[in-house]
Amino acid sequence: MQGPPFRKKLARNVRRAFLLLCAPVYLWPYFSREIGAEYNVGFFRKVRLLWKMYRNRFRIVTASGFLDQIVMVAEILKVPKSAKGVVVECGSYQGGSTTNFSLVCAMVGRELHVFDSFAGLPEPTEADKLHKCLAIKEIRTFRKGDWCGTFEIVRENLRRYGDLSVCRFHQGYFDQTMPQFQEPVVFAFCDVDLRASLEPCVERLWALLQDRGTLFTHEANHMEIAGLFFEPEWWKARGLEERPPGLVGGGSGIGLYFSGQGFFRSTLGFAIKNVKVTDLAA
Ligand SMILES: C[S@@+](CC[C@H](N)C(=O)[O-])C[C@H]1O[C@@H](n2cnc3c(N)ncnc32)[C@H](O)[C@@H]1O
Repeated sequence: MQGPPFRKKLARNVRRAFLLLCAPVYLWPYFSREIGAEYNVGFFRKVRLLWKMYRNRFRIVTASGFLDQIVMVAEILKVPKSAKGVVVECGSYQGGSTTNFSLVCAMVGRELHVFDSFAGLPEPTEADKLHKCLAIKEIRTFRKGDWCGTFEIVRENLRRYGDLSVCRFHQGYFDQTMPQFQEPVVFAFCDVDLRASLEPCVERLWALLQDRGTLFTHEANHMEIAGLFFEPEWWKARGLEERPPGLVGGGSGIGLYFSGQGFFRSTLGFAIKNVKVTDLAA
């Protein structure tokens, strides 16, 4: 069997070398001393966690990137210990990101609430059949049942490679499970592909999110998803915000991976709830 052509291989290796060269930039916030200090998570525990997360990449089929997960794990370690609330993941697939979140949740003593149909995507609406990802010049298409990871697979991966004891599962489509959720939330990750899937998650989670809590989306580079965070009518109609929160990374994702087009990109973006002007450096 023939491998990929030489130029493709070369480009891939150059990208990898570049990523390695940039490692200190990506890892600097994660390893900074104040992050995790309140939870007694120092340098060596961080190295151990990173190593486990890295190994899990080869054990579990995962849709989110390693760097994406490092950024989010650092964010969970940053949440002040005094902030009451749980961590939420919507969209687990086979449990790749879930497993790594469970490890950090065990370290900081928080529950991880996992929402999924465990049967893949629902039937996409007309508006969700095609998503435009202009930054990578791609169209994404979806079908019912895509990204199916059964409950048994996710549970087994968590048992073997993560920490099952911190996990609480909410099985079903989000429009059924989300409205019943009541816990205060300090961090949320929505990796749900469809705008129609994201809406019930954001609607409920934003109301439960603590001030200065972060909500990440894994489809920040889909115009149909990024748009939600900038639509005043949507946020007003649900009594969530007078002005939409916006999305850091909206349209092309936060700059984690080299795009090959002269800029950095990813699929990850985030919104922060109720940031006050006084929280920001002048
Ligand atoms: C791309 S996968 C998640 C990938 C995972 N976070 C990872 O890093 O490997 C999307 C997940 O969202 C779930 N999903 C999407 N829409 C849903 C809905 N409306 N209700 C419940 N689950 C949904 C799918 O079942 C699937 O597990």
